[in-house]
Amino acid sequence: MDKIIIRGGKPLSGRIPISGAKNSALTLLPCALLTDEPLTLRNLPRLADVDSFGHLLNQLGVSTMIEGARPEDFGRVMTLRAGRVTSTVAPYDIVRKMRASILVLGPLLARAGEATVSLPGGCAIGNRPIDLHLKALEALGAEIEITAGYVTARAPKGGLPGGDFGFPVVSVGATENALMTAVLCKGTSTLRNAAREPEIVDLCNLLVAMGAKIEGIGGSTLVIHGKERLHGATYRVMADRIEAGSYACAAAITGSALDLIGAKLDEMEATVAALRQAGVHVEEIADGIAVRPNGKLQALTLSTAPFPGFATDMQAQFMAMLCLAEGASVLTETIFENRYMHVPELNRMGAHIEVKGRTAVVHGVERMVGAPVMATDLRASMSLIIAGLAAEGETEAGLSKRWFCSGHYPPPTPPFQGGEARCAA
Ligand code: UD1
Repeated sequence: MDKIIIRGGKPLSGRIPISGAKNSALTLLPCALLTDEPLTLRNLPRLADVDSFGHLLNQLGVSTMIEGARPEDFGRVMTLRAGRVTSTVAPYDIVRKMRASILVLGPLLARAGEATVSLPGGCAIGNRPIDLHLKALEALGAEIEITAGYVTARAPKGGLPGGDFGFPVVSVGATENALMTAVLCKGTSTLRNAAREPEIVDLCNLLVAMGAKIEGIGGSTLVIHGKERLHGATYRVMADRIEAGSYACAAAITGSALDLIGAKLDEMEATVAALRQAGVHVEEIADGIAVRPNGKLQALTLSTAPFPGFATDMQAQFMAMLCLAEGASVLTETIFENRYMHVPELNRMGAHIEVKGRTAVVHGVERMVGAPVMATDLRASMSLIIAGLAAEGETEAGLSKRWFCSGHYPPPTPPFQGGEARCAA
């Protein structure tokens, strides 16, 4: 698949089962390295990144087996077993395709006493350093060495003692790596100013199910009492709050009614608050969240922030939605320095967006028109699809190779009727 064609201008309708969360799956999978017993993950999303992560884990000695999904699971069920870790190296070839490979650093170090991972480098949305991952592991007692594009983390003789670390800025990935290391340290570790994203809570819940002892789950200070060993578990990946929010934006911009099955309001309060402020009717239903049209969309002022703030992963989709709102919206991106790649593409579809530094002003327009556009990162690509659903005529979103590495694979069949989306080879 190298492009998606969207014929817009039609309302959507239906009930959409929300997939397991990508960002959760990518941190739960490496937990298989923390035990020699089987780890079964249910509701894994059907993504190229999940497959790539499986391949990476295979190279480290983890066996992976896909099982039939249960009826209540939209996604896949995978059982992973790291009876023995046979390699402690995550090579460049895999890491360059999937940034999340850095998340094997902590668990490999914790289990095998050593880990070597290729430095991930930048990506479409910015520089994305890993200095905080390394500083946190150092605080837990690891020795860090960087040579020839690889980082090696080693435990001292006698194992990692554990320790205290305060993150100078909130980092989801660094919190995850530190957590997955601390659970097997000799002593107690404290992580301050830790990320509080629901995916971190999901990770903590899995680790606890594997026998870890963690205090403060859901808060910004986590106290982890290291254990000698963890055991296997069966765990269901949480619903993807970003996917749910993206469908909500698609419903809002097309004035449609959609039910988002499995979505949880308390995991996406900032998104729901922003939708409501824009005039969209959102309510909790027995099995998810209902989104209903409620007149003309209104402009918003939004600034991205770590959870519980407004997610940077929702910025592009909201921007697309606000292109057709009444009045001028002001969006400020505070997390990543280069996350406006979708702006010129939206403008090519008739939007009127001006960017000054980290702030974008979206002047609402009456109509947008389909056009050939170039999709960059995953969320930017979704914003173009959202805009395409409301635009007149056909939008052809060309996918960059990088996007392909983070996208749905194979492409899902949209379980809703209305605006058409088809994939072209
Ligand atoms: C994760 C999510 C991504 C989301 C982001 C912020 C996954 C797989 N990806 O990415 O979808 O957009 O959280 O919610 O879960 N930083 C440093 N040094 C570091 C690490 C991060 O300076 O060592 C900076 C980053 O450049 C960025 C900020 O901290 O400005 C937050 O990044 P971080 O939370 O680490 O993002 P990821 O974990 O990479």
